[in-house]
Amino acid sequence: MIVVLLSPPGSGKGTQCRRLLGLLGVPHLSTGAMLRESVRTGSEMGKMAGSFIQQGKLVPDDVIVTLVKQRLQERDCEAGCLLDGFPRTVPQAVALDRELKALGRRQVDVALELRVTLEELIRRLVERARQEGRQDDSADTVVRRMEVYDLQTKPVLEYYREQGKLVSIDGMGSADEVFARIETQVRKYGSATGN
Ligand code: AP5
Ligand code: MG
Repeated sequence: MIVVLLSPPGSGKGTQCRRLLGLLGVPHLSTGAMLRESVRTGSEMGKMAGSFIQQGKLVPDDVIVTLVKQRLQERDCEAGCLLDGFPRTVPQAVALDRELKALGRRQVDVALELRVTLEELIRRLVERARQEGRQDDSADTVVRRMEVYDLQTKPVLEYYREQGKLVSIDGMGSADEVFARIETQVRKYGSATGN
């Protein structure tokens, strides 16, 4: 099963993917985590991506699409995957569909949007900045990430809505409460698609 998690910074994509992993047993692909790892190791990609991440801007589509394509070709992705933070532009969504077709894989089954108020998103990110010090959780960068989400990623919601694959879920409440809502939806889609 291929599940896309598509929602703003701090909405709980990573938190819920870690739970979904246990339910579905398919790999968790977070483009943000992959990029942060490349920054940490100082690879060429990391050197280029670091400044985009730091400014709260999206890394160029061609770089991201190449990164995801390589990962999707690996064997553990044959039965599906959890896509966290990808696709986040319409060209990325189109490239994903094209790549899955080229690989002879199933298409995206469901795109989950976690709905969280702006106040709660900010509260979570401020708390994470305090506890973990993630570089892009500074106040200025968080504002920029929210703007980028509205401008560049919201159209991807429409892309999946038009395909009848978008499911919006209340992302407020505890992580366990949110997961219970996600589980109900994913089980519905999983049984509809035989997975
Ligand atoms: P990315 O790493 O994807 O960051 P993001 O989308 O901004 O989202 P976050 O990781 O901040 O939030 P999340 O939704 O995963 O929430 P989480 O579970 O952590 O991207 C970072 C950057 O990389 C981008 O800005 C861009 O530069 C680049 N990039 C990545 N993908 C790209 C792409 N496809 N194209 C181009 N560029 C790309 O939760 C947040 C916090 O809240 C945590 O501390 C968590 O413990 C807490 N929390 C979670 N759920 C709850 C709950 N229910 N109640 C209370 N606290 C909660
Ligand atoms: Mg995340």
